[in-house]
Amino acid sequence: MIETLKLLKGNHLVSIMKDIISIHDFDRDQIEGVLKSAQIMERFIQGTDILEGKILATLFFEPSTRTHLSFESAMKRLGGKVIGFSESSSTSVAKGETLQDTVRITEQYSDIIVIRHPRDGAARLAAEVTSIPVINAGDGTNQHPTQTLLDLYTIQKELGNIDGLTIGMMGDLKYGRTVHSLSCALSWFDVSLQVLSPPGLELPSYITEDLMEKSIDIVEVEDMEDLSVDVLYVTRIQKERFPDLEEYEKVRGSYRITIKTLDHLGEAIILHPLPRVDEIDPEVDTTPNALYFKQAWNGVPVRMALLASALGWDQ
Ligand code: NCD
Repeated sequence: MIETLKLLKGNHLVSIMKDIISIHDFDRDQIEGVLKSAQIMERFIQGTDILEGKILATLFFEPSTRTHLSFESAMKRLGGKVIGFSESSSTSVAKGETLQDTVRITEQYSDIIVIRHPRDGAARLAAEVTSIPVINAGDGTNQHPTQTLLDLYTIQKELGNIDGLTIGMMGDLKYGRTVHSLSCALSWFDVSLQVLSPPGLELPSYITEDLMEKSIDIVEVEDMEDLSVDVLYVTRIQKERFPDLEEYEKVRGSYRITIKTLDHLGEAIILHPLPRVDEIDPEVDTTPNALYFKQAWNGVPVRMALLASALGWDQ
């Protein structure tokens, strides 16, 4: 434990904020602090006791596999325990309890909350009514900061550096919260962006304007063949966010990476927050380009670093 603490303090992990709500709250130093700490956490992946006696509550009001399980795995590897739900219909929410009350009650039973909710801003609201740390595991179409940190960790681990890269983002850039968080974090780095989306699913203008203000070179690409990138970040179409399912049907299946399209991508690494639907053919999985399963694994050390930091065990 002493060794873990010393290593993490040496990498300014302890300076990171209590609540992790939006990637907008991070500057480059803080992002790099998390990435370094995650690297250290890999040495303790088999287990440590720095969060012994602490309890994580996972409040998942929306479906989740990777985020939920990797947070749980991370907490247990740090020596802590986990309580929570992944189906709000089995909780008092079904009786009409407000989010604020659910959070206030959860505070009585735990030391830290990880929350996923369909409403934009729900994690911020949760943090406002509790004194224990709150981590946003995705709020509506808004933000998914911990996914972004593991995305950056994967890029850095695989390519050595984030600066100097050309990063492509392909898919539902309008409703996908992972790309919203990722593009904001990338604006701290010296990168160029190429974006490709079905019509009507482009990046929201508030994000592109922000990127341009930060002098990030951003190019809209019409066809997959026109992409020339080091990293291609693919997302699924966020069916559940469409107000009108007919609109979803119009864009469904409109892009797909296959072994054939890999010819255009050269050595680019392919990332995807997952789940995928039909946008990456499973035959691509065994190629050296496919990094998305490794990326999912990287969620564990990154979330170990975030839990340890948010719980402020340095005091
Ligand atoms: C993403 C999410 O929930 O936003 N999934 C995840 O956390 N890995 C992406 C998605 O659902 O498409």
